[in-house]
Amino acid sequence: MTPDNRTAICPGTFDPVTYGHLDVIGRASKMFETLVVGVVNLPWRKGSTLFSTEERIAFLTDATGHLPNIVIEPFSSLLVTFARDRGALAIVKGLRAISDFEYELEMNQLNRYQAPDIESVYLMASPKYSFISSSGVKELATFGGEIEDLVPVEVARHLKERLGR
Ligand code: PNS
Repeated sequence: MTPDNRTAICPGTFDPVTYGHLDVIGRASKMFETLVVGVVNLPWRKGSTLFSTEERIAFLTDATGHLPNIVIEPFSSLLVTFARDRGALAIVKGLRAISDFEYELEMNQLNRYQAPDIESVYLMASPKYSFISSSGVKELATFGGEIEDLVPVEVARHLKERLGR
């Protein structure tokens, strides 16, 4: 499909979704007519995520029910191929720190090399969420830390069930 400026992709592994992700998704949903949340689905890398693709999509679906223009879909192709298939002109990502910037700069160049007509745009994390990462939340959950303000209630419950000692 020809890239359309009304559609954007917000991609991620979302293992699991955090309030930081939801902040970026909510803000991006106001910028485009349709925001496709692309959930990385690499079933051949079994065990590489804590939650299955279906679980990660269910958490996202629950948490974004109030946003009318969100579509949540798994993808296992190159990100730019997925964006092109959905007719998206833009890929939207959140940036927290310099470490994110270094990684995203590389991804940006690789994606641009594959598909120069698809743009990436970056939303700076809201300060309140700038320290939240899925891996940090999983580490806290493993050792019984407080995670209630970092992820939706259902996600916190599942994290504690699966990781709590
Ligand atoms: O940090 P995340 O959430 O694991 O990011 C995943 C993703 C796909 C957004 C990131 O790896 C990326 O930008 N990849 C670009 C290269 C690509 O297309 N990889 C295939 C993923 S199925």
